[in-house]
Parts: sequence; C-alpha cells; structure tokens
Amino acid sequence: MLPRTFFLFELLFHLLAGQPTQVGYQVGTGIADITGPIVQIMMMGYAKHGQTGQGLAQRLYSRAYTVLDPVSGNRITIVNTDTQSMGDIVKQRVVSSLQEIYGEDVYTEKNIMLASTHSHSGMGGFLQYTLYEISVLGWIEETVQPMVQGIVKSIQIAHDNLQEGNVVYNLGELLDTNINRSPSAYLLNPEEERARYKHNVDKDMSLLGFRARDGQPLGLITWFPVHGVSINNTNRLINGDNKGFAAYAAERTMNPDSLPGKGPFVAAFTQSNGADVSPNTLGAFCTETDIPCDGSRDSICPGSSKCIGRGPGWKIGHFESNRIIGQNQATRALELFGQKRKGKAIPASVSASASTSASVPVPISVQGKVDFRQKYWDITKEVVITANGTKGLLCDPAMAAGTTDGPAIDGFYQNTTQGTFFWDIAKDLVKKPTQRQKECQAPKAILLNTGEIKYPFDWQPKILDVQLLRMGNVYIIGVPSEFSTMSGRRLRRSVRQNLIAQGLGNNDTVVLHTGPANGYASYCTTFEEYQMQRYEGGSTPYGPYTLDAYIKVFGELVSSMASGKPILDSEQLPNYVNASYDFSPRQGADRPKLFHQFGDVVRNVAPVYRRRKALTITASFVAGNPRNDGMLDKTYLTVEYRQPSSGDWKIIKTDDDYDTRFIWRYTMPILGQSEATVEWDCGEDTPAGFYRLGYFGHHRTPYTK
Ligand SMILES: *[C@@H]1O[C@H](CO)[C@@H](O)[C@H](O)[C@H]1NC(C)=O
Ligand SMILES: *[C@@H]1O[C@H](CO)[C@@H](O)[C@H](O)[C@H]1NC(C)=O
Ligand SMILES: *[C@@H]1O[C@H](CO)[C@@H](O)[C@H](O)[C@H]1NC(C)=O
Ligand SMILES: *[C@@H]1O[C@H](CO)[C@@H](O)[C@H](O)[C@H]1NC(C)=O
Ligand SMILES: *[C@@H]1O[C@H](CO)[C@@H](O)[C@H](O)[C@H]1NC(C)=O
Repeated sequence: MLPRTFFLFELLFHLLAGQPTQVGYQVGTGIADITGPIVQIMMMGYAKHGQTGQGLAQRLYSRAYTVLDPVSGNRITIVNTDTQSMGDIVKQRVVSSLQEIYGEDVYTEKNIMLASTHSHSGMGGFLQYTLYEISVLGWIEETVQPMVQGIVKSIQIAHDNLQEGNVVYNLGELLDTNINRSPSAYLLNPEEERARYKHNVDKDMSLLGFRARDGQPLGLITWFPVHGVSINNTNRLINGDNKGFAAYAAERTMNPDSLPGKGPFVAAFTQSNGADVSPNTLGAFCTETDIPCDGSRDSICPGSSKCIGRGPGWKIGHFESNRIIGQNQATRALELFGQKRKGKAIPASVSASASTSASVPVPISVQGKVDFRQKYWDITKEVVITANGTKGLLCDPAMAAGTTDGPAIDGFYQNTTQGTFFWDIAKDLVKKPTQRQKECQAPKAILLNTGEIKYPFDWQPKILDVQLLRMGNVYIIGVPSEFSTMSGRRLRRSVRQNLIAQGLGNNDTVVLHTGPANGYASYCTTFEEYQMQRYEGGSTPYGPYTLDAYIKVFGELVSSMASGKPILDSEQLPNYVNASYDFSPRQGADRPKLFHQFGDVVRNVAPVYRRRKALTITASFVAGNPRNDGMLDKTYLTVEYRQPSSGDWKIIKTDDDYDTRFIWRYTMPILGQSEATVEWDCGEDTPAGFYRLGYFGHHRTPYTK
C-alpha cells in the first residue's frame, strides 16, 4: 500500500511547475562496485612516495542515472565515480562495452558523462598521460578493468531499471563544509565580479532528485564543490573521501534494511568547481603550533613544521573530519530531496518547515527536452579574443612549481618541488621550454614542460572531452579540468547567457558544473588568478587563457544545441595504452604460515568484552594477497550477529561500513606469507549479544599465473 503522502508530494510539484501533468521521463538508477587492487598499488592524488594501499576503509562505487525522454527518444546518462578523476580511455572502453551490448546508438561518448568525486584515497593507474602515470608507476590494468566493469554494470542496472518517473531540481546553501584555500588568488578577480557573490567559494548545493511515478524515491545527485582531501596523505586504506562517505551515509538512511552498496536508492555526490576549495574548514596551521599559514613563501612555518589544513574533526583525526564533511553533504542533500531522516517520504513543504537550517526550498519539477552535445577538442589549437581585443593563444601544456598534486594547504609550500618523490623522477626527463612556450605560459615559472616532451608519449592531454547535457531547463557542463571557484562561475554564467541569447534558456535556466569529468587535465583558473601562480594557477597547463578557451568552446556547444545541428569537428582521442608501462609490484604466490592453513585465526578476539565505552574489536587471519580477487560487490570481511530468537547469524557489517577496516600485510614477503586484520569499532549503542568476525580471501598457488 502506498503511503498517502506520496500522492500529496507529486501533486504539489506539478502545481508548482504551473503546468499540466505531461508525459514524464523514464528514469533509472544503478550502483556497482569499482574497487580495484586495495594493496601495494600507489594511491592516486597526492603523489606521495610510499603511499600504497594497505587495505580498505570503504569501497568505491560507480553510480549511474539515466533519463530518457520518450518524446524524442533521447537519453542521457550521468555517472559519478569514487575516483580522483576519470580517464578518457576508461570512458572509451565503457562506451565500447555498452555498444557491444546495446548497439551503437543507445550509449555513446556524447550522451554519457563520467564524473568523479575527486577522492585522493583511491588507487591509481587509469590515466594514460605520462605525467599522471609517473606518480603511480604506470598504467595499471588491474585498476582499470574493475573500474570499467563496474561503471558498465551500474549503467546496465540503470538501463534495466528504467521506468516512468519524475526528476526534480533543488538548490540550497550548505555552510561550514568548504573554504577557499587560495583566497589571495581569488582576490585578484575584479571587484565588481566578486561583489556578485556572497562567499569566495560556492556554498550552494544543487540537487537532482529522482522518483518513480508512484513517488517511490530512486536516487539523487548533488553538485557541491569541495576537494576530496579530508583524508590526508598518511592514509593507506582505500576510501572515497568525504563524498564517498556522503553517498554511503545518504544511502544508509534511505536503504535502512540493505547492506551498504546494495539498496535501491542511489545517492551520488559529484565534484564541481572545487579547485581552490578545501574541506579543511578550520584553515591551515603550522603543525605542532597554532600559527596560521597559507602555504606561500610569505608565511614559512618555523623549523620543520609544515603548513597543513585542519578539518573540523582534526583533534580526533582525519577520518572524523571526513565523516563530518561527508555527513553535512548527506544531510543537506536529503533535505533538498524532500526526505526526512527515517527513510519515510514526506511532502517537500513539510520538510521545509521542519528544517532548522536557513531554508529548504521546494524542489521544482524538471520537464522538457533531453539533449546532449560533446566533442573531443584540441585546446592547444584554440585562439581567444581577450577582454581588450587582443588575441590570446593557448599553450602546449606545462606545469609550474609545486606540481606534486598535493594541495598546498595540505602539506606543500607553493613554489616548492625539491625533494619530492615526483620531482625526483621527473626532473631528468624534462626538456627546457622554448622561448615561445615561456612567453605563452608567462608568468608561469615552468618546471615541467610537459607539452614539449614526447617521450615515451604525451605527458598531458591536448585533446579534451567537453560536454553539455540538457534535461528540460537544467543544463549540465562536463569538463576534465578542476575549475577554481570563479572559473566555474564565469563558465556557467557565460553558458547561461548564451543559452538565453540563443533562445534555449530563460530566467529560470539552471547550469550545473561537473568536473573533473570524462578525463583529466589538471586545473583551470581565471586569467587574474593565473597571474599569482599559486598551486592552482601553476597547475593550469594551457596558459593564462585556459578558461577563456573553455568559455569559447562551450559557446560552440550551445550554438550547436540551439541550431539542432551535430558537432562535426570532433578530434580523434589518442590511445597510448599499448605503449605504456606498469611498474607496480607484481604479486607472487601465497603460502600459509608454517603449520597453518589459509583462513586460520592468528590473533583472536577476546571471548567476552565488557563494555564501558566504545571499543575496537580485532582479529587477524592467515591470508592470501587481496589482489587475487578484488571481491567486487562482495566483502573481505563480515561482522555477524547471532539472532537470539532463531540462533541464525546475520551479517550486520561489511568492509564498506565506516566502522570496519580491512588491513593486509606481508609477514614474510619472500615466502609469500601474509596476514589480514579485521577491525570493528563497536559503538556504545551496539546491543549486548554474540558476534563474530569473518575474513574472505583467495590465495594463489605457486604454479598459477
Ligand atoms: C594526517 O592525519 C593524521 C590523523 O588525523 C594526523 O595524525 C597527521 O598528522 C596528518 N598528517 C598530515 C600530513 O596531514
Ligand atoms: C591586454 O593586452 C595587453 C597587451 O596588448 C596584455 O599584456 C594584457 O595581458 C591583455 N589583457 C588581457 C586581460 O588579456
Ligand atoms: C619560485 O621560487 C624561485 C626560487 O626558489 C624564485 O626565483 C621564484 O621567483 C619563485 N616564483 C614565485 C612565483 O614565487
Ligand atoms: C529576467 O531577468 C532580468 C534581470 O533580472 C529581468 O530584467 C527580466 O525582466 C526577466 N525576464 C523575465 C521574462 O522574467
Ligand atoms: C593495442 O594492442 C592490442 C593487442 O595487440 C590491439 O588489439 C589494439 O588494437 C591495440 N590498441 C591500440 C589503440 O593500438
């Protein structure tokens, strides 16, 4: 039986939209696991030497949303992945797998957008350009294959779930969750432009909510800029950072009876213009002191202390900061969706009045045409006309100091490279920039002249995937670069103005910014911010007019959509995978500890725990290397509870739960002996009873490949 409130809800937003009920969309959501190798492989994001995986804190997922307009037959698919970014080859492989299943016209590189949470705690090896391979030791098929497989699976599930449904849009402020980590660069933007905005980062969360025709909640996607660096570079456990946690928390609330990653409600938290946006909301301080710093040479920390951002839970630890920043996003998303905590649907208006936060606006129904434009675009060939009418050239890529991929505020001084792992490898391969390149990139002090080295192949992309999706009056931009706050605002504003000028948009038109998406091309700042060459400006590879080039190409995408004509000048994406290397460590055969078998307990739990406060329960097992099987959509560990009534064991926790950890290590690497440890933070609210911990793994015998 349907709760009456569902009908109320649907009625409400049809009235709000001020139009008669019309044929809605077909909508479908899907989720699948993309966790790759959880040990031995370098993690992607900080490029910190030795930051290889040692286990799992949370699984990584692909979350897919398909909207089909039955009138035109057009469909778009938005996918969000718990990754640092997306690989252009990953997208190509996803599309070709889908085309093998559904034929050539259903899913293409044009109507699928692969977005990313920008977590810095996933595994590396999925970006094909040398610069991004160096820090993770290559192109790693072991990472790529489960990623492609999981993304395809999530899209197939969304495809199979397609049903008549509704999409709503909502927008609301979310405070205390992000700050600008380069405010001095932001201040270089013109005063009258800054005056249009209340904050120096975007604090609005935008949401698309999906419901079945009968009102049943299917899922949501949010856009909110905040870097995925809540978990710092000392972490060795794979996880999706704050947006991964937000998705987990929102899905746990909406699917209270399912294990994580298994419920019908799918919640995605995509990244937006967050290049200069940190989750370390307390600001940056010199370690061991309370001296504020900003990572520049003007505020060098005393002695050996480092300038490091502090998250809201820093006194407890970074996993606590991550939980807070993630939970803030999850809570706000559910409010904007019009959903109360207990998983029960309520009318949006009631939700608004019940909320304590500033305001919960009422969701607006999204109706109308579905359309899409995309092209592979050579940014380096672009020429723009600057504000003062002169020509602005785009450059071959180059990076300045501090290209450590470690956000300045999170541990590195601006304009410093010496002694970093990355620089030690890269410096001997780097060519001196030509005069032309120096002038083009000025005032960048080029350290990595990536655009002029061809060995062994391109170091950074020149061909970028740019994409514009439309769903009624909501337009979604997809860019492979991390855009600074003001860059994102300028691009959105220009797209919106173009849409209005070309007759597609009106005053209610919404433009959302997704990035990094569909590939990875480092940063994009405004011309003014670029002049300062902080980390974000120094990592803007194509020179001071990078943003202006993006604005220009999106003008073309809008024109093409307005005229109904296809894009004809798309370039060919290069593929260097066959020429790439994989220097990541191999895994050998596994052998059990002497006089033991695989799976034997080597350190047991205590027979009884008398609980006064929260405690951590652990056990260790004779293990095989987890790389033998990534356990996609499965788990390396379980916590089970014996039900008093039946005596049956019920799984209550998996390796995806935030209060469990799976940790693996070699005890005797030469012999291939290893140990897996299962940890469970047993909260104060855990009922008394019988529990058991389980470990699941595979071993490889000496004679298999
Ligand atoms: C990372 O976080 C841990 C736990 O909160 C903390 O002990 C450590 O100092 C942090 N390190 C860096 C480099 O931020
Ligand atoms: C305007 O032109 C001058 C040179 O003619 C150039 O130096 C300056 O950077 C230009 N300004 C912008 C915003 O492009
Ligand atoms: C970066 O550092 C070098 C020397 O360490 C200095 O010459 C240069 O001016 C600095 N650049 C900026 C933009 O601060
Ligand atoms: C759109 O917004 C502009 C600026 O706020 C206003 O002048 C104009 O009247 C609005 N147009 C409509 C149709 O509401
Ligand atoms: C890579 O090599 C495989 C096997 O030799 C081949 O089938 C494939 O076409 C090659 N891909 C490219 C992009 O050259």
